[in-house]
Amino acid sequence: MEPHLKLFAPGPSFPTGFFLKFFKRRLEFLEELAQSNCPVAFFKFAGERVYLVNDPELIKDVLVLNHRRFKKGRGLERAKILLGEGLLTSEGEAHRRQRRIVQPVFQHKYLQNYADIMVDRTMKLCSGWKDGMLVNMSEQIISLTLMIVGECLFGTDVESDTRRIGSLVNKVMESFFYFVSPLGPLYRLLGHPKVQDAFAARRSLNDIVLRMIDARRSGPPRQNDLLSLLFSAQDSETGCGMSDAQLRDEAMTLFLAGHETTANGLSWTLFLLATHKGVGLKLRAEIESVIGRDRPGVGHLEQLKFLDQVIRESLRLYPPAYVIGRRAVEDHRLAGIRIPKGAVLLVSPWTMQRSKRYYETPLDFRPERWTAEFRACLPRFAFFPFGGGPRQCIGEGFAWMEMALVLAVLVRDWDFELLLGQQIRPNPAMTLRSDRPIRMRLKKVLEAYG
Ligand code: HEM
Repeated sequence: MEPHLKLFAPGPSFPTGFFLKFFKRRLEFLEELAQSNCPVAFFKFAGERVYLVNDPELIKDVLVLNHRRFKKGRGLERAKILLGEGLLTSEGEAHRRQRRIVQPVFQHKYLQNYADIMVDRTMKLCSGWKDGMLVNMSEQIISLTLMIVGECLFGTDVESDTRRIGSLVNKVMESFFYFVSPLGPLYRLLGHPKVQDAFAARRSLNDIVLRMIDARRSGPPRQNDLLSLLFSAQDSETGCGMSDAQLRDEAMTLFLAGHETTANGLSWTLFLLATHKGVGLKLRAEIESVIGRDRPGVGHLEQLKFLDQVIRESLRLYPPAYVIGRRAVEDHRLAGIRIPKGAVLLVSPWTMQRSKRYYETPLDFRPERWTAEFRACLPRFAFFPFGGGPRQCIGEGFAWMEMALVLAVLVRDWDFELLLGQQIRPNPAMTLRSDRPIRMRLKKVLEAYG
């Protein structure tokens, strides 16, 4: 056995038990691998060599220092059929070029334009709520983040288009498994109904988005929606912009990547606040002292220190992107271990961010742990909910701002009670969802407290 490498042999019930465990209990499986305390754990799965990289310095090696030796996993390669060549799926020079063009659009000065949309949309959601009402919070939040990203991308005057795009995108998302699973090519060959639905949805999406691009070309200059900014963005090296097809793929990628992850982050935060009342009260006190009855805005965020800690702690315990995959495009050595070309590498925010090595009482929800001193001592890749290196989430600033503004509105005015008898567990699908809808009773704060 090579140094620092732990081999995980499948258990006695191999192959069925092993496969079931990998698919059905993926988080426990990752935890088991991580608990070996070896920097790299290895197993074979469906003929593939898979390595879980379990050490912050080695994760940096893969995501940052030697990123050119790896590409995205097969799942995202297959997702190209649905997403085209956007930032999530493109590789190499094509990715670097797209990233150069899109990155400036996510600068802080532009993000501020979206704060109003985030706050307005959240207030609109709350205007339909009543004291004592029962809601499916997961559903409420996903439709909120969908409308937010839709409006930020396409502008405020296309609400009906955004709704239509939202439902088409959901169709595409529902079929994702049928594209990225190992049986993906077979499902396509057999024309599985979900696959056909996804292709039909994709065609309609193309039409709508291309129509919007056309409107920007022929119409008067518009506000700073993301699509308009992308439309006029240029590569700093060549001075060229994007073709219509690239623009369309990028818009779809941002729409898809930009709502489910943030919705999960928000839903888990509300779940944690509902189950840790003391934290919720402390957070509301901070929001009231900083914002009072004013309208929340970007200017308040700097002062909302505890809110930042709450979001950080929630993303630590429930990272929406719980595992990040890569495939070696050439041989590589990691901690003395030979990683052969073609091998799969996994790095997992879920396991690293719950590790005793870096976090005291790691399973406790304790936002106070995030002091400046603690952050300064924490290795960079012991907390990486947004990944790292050249493929780090481009929407990180957008997501932080959105989560903070949405929570500022919600927590100031509402109290959330988890309905009794619900056993909410994480479900590691494409992103880390809850295994069932989070059902909550709403309590209006002003009415409840005077
Ligand atoms: C809490 C919310 C979010 C989380 C946890 C999250 C997480 C991530 C992670 C871990 C990656 C890197 C994946 C890899 O290295 O393979 C990523 C990439 C990406 N994310 Fe996010 N994300 C969030 C929100 C957003 C938002 C709001 C947008 C857009 C508005 C967005 C757009 C993207 C894009 C386009 C990429 C691909 C970047 C590239 O490869 O150049 N994400 N995200």
